[in-house]
Amino acid sequence: MTMEKQIDPQHVAIIMDGNGRWAEQRGMPRSFGHRAGVEALRRVVRHSSGLGIRYLTVYAFSTENWKRPRREIEFLFGLLREYFKKTVEELHAMRVRILMIGDMTPFPADVRELAAKAGQKTRDNDGLRLQIALNYGGRADIIQAARNLAGQVLAGTLDPAAIDEDCFARCLHTAGLPDPELVIRTSGESRLSNFLLWQAAYAELVVTKECWPDFDGAALENALAEYRRRDRRFGSVPRKK
Ligand code: FPP
Repeated sequence: MTMEKQIDPQHVAIIMDGNGRWAEQRGMPRSFGHRAGVEALRRVVRHSSGLGIRYLTVYAFSTENWKRPRREIEFLFGLLREYFKKTVEELHAMRVRILMIGDMTPFPADVRELAAKAGQKTRDNDGLRLQIALNYGGRADIIQAARNLAGQVLAGTLDPAAIDEDCFARCLHTAGLPDPELVIRTSGESRLSNFLLWQAAYAELVVTKECWPDFDGAALENALAEYRRRDRRFGSVPRKK
């Protein structure tokens, strides 16, 4: 009898959900929950680094989040400014490399600049690679990849017959990253909400009951333990126990 051990994921992606509800449960404004959400992100990055996770991708602002009240959007921009100013040193000291995925064009110029500087400063770090998804949507990502490939075909530099999964993946915002093996969503909601639609095709989805501001190292380890119990078949048959 062979007991195959599930290898820990290299790439974990997180839908950080429930900041608003967490705050409302405490009779506080939603902004209070977002601020606590930034602290949760700091904890989880630190813990993920310690566990040796190679890639962590977090959904911080989706293409649908523009539907929120302007005040809340402005507050999130303010948090991003603070995050890039205050937290980058801490991440750099942990040898974390920070990258943004998504289309930051509609963001305020100073936020874009701070994000670019954070990326620049940490670009040679060899620790955890942290992708922060900002104005990211899985569908928008697939569309921009399709446009890119169509442009290459029109220019005569790409034969449509040469477009395969690897070629397509190289045009996505996550080019060069392995697909996430584990997607965690907090606050009990079981949806992908337009996150990494292509990349998460075979990811295990673990939904945790706590809202994002309560998520910590122990919650992350519980999600990893749940992942290890899963039988990943990729369309094949169950593994022999
Ligand atoms: C989900 O809670 C959270 C967001 C939409 C984005 C905000 C994320 C953070 C503040 C953490 C990371 C921040 C930075 C600066 C990198 P929700 O508002 O959807 O909660 P709800 O579902 O309870 O309303």
